[in-house]
Amino acid sequence: MSTNLTWHQHKIDKAARSQANGNRPFVLWFTGLSGSGKSTIANIVEQKLHVAGKSTYLLDGDNIRHGLCGDLGFSDKDRVENIRRIAEVSKLFVDAGVIVLTAFISPFRADRNAARHILAEGEFVEVFVDTPLEECEKRDPKGLYKKARKGDIPDFTGIGSAYEAPTSPEIHLTWKGQNEITAADEVIAQLKTLGYLA
Ligand code: PPS
Repeated sequence: MSTNLTWHQHKIDKAARSQANGNRPFVLWFTGLSGSGKSTIANIVEQKLHVAGKSTYLLDGDNIRHGLCGDLGFSDKDRVENIRRIAEVSKLFVDAGVIVLTAFISPFRADRNAARHILAEGEFVEVFVDTPLEECEKRDPKGLYKKARKGDIPDFTGIGSAYEAPTSPEIHLTWKGQNEITAADEVIAQLKTLGYLA
């Protein structure tokens, strides 16, 4: 724990940066099982926002674990730290006036709530990519479910490690066989309804 620190108030603040970017900054926090479509949908949503002239940044589980969170594994303790770091990084991007999209399993409710509270009121939009385990396992794009079923990944989410579904996400994408483009369109539509986009 660091001590003897003083917070520096800078002349250019979040409001000024947001105005310069023409953005209302917030975090679009995708959560769901591995293979649920989080990254794919977040990618499409980011493209749509980019085309609309928004300043965006996508933080993605697999990518961030190559660098910032490269020292973390998949124990409960490491997942908690993973999500804490992502929330803090998201806060910095929001402070820079950017719309942040995050695509992490973020399996624990308490950690997602903690992330919500790291951001200011109204800056955290939880998107539950609610694709059932059976469908994710059928897709198995990286062959990880197969490995987990064989016992090669004992702490794999949904098999040997819990996924706690959100109880009241701002956006709930219930999978009914729709493709990721339709799901991304639903996210954009909901953001408009919620007042995050004009
Ligand atoms: S977490 O739980 O939020 O900290 O996980 P995250 O940082 O999103 O990383 C998930 C990706 O890591 C791969 N992977 C695993 N996932 C779950 N459980 C275990 N044990 C595991 N080991 C590796 C997997 O590719 C996840 O990617 P996605 O995109 O979710 O499929």
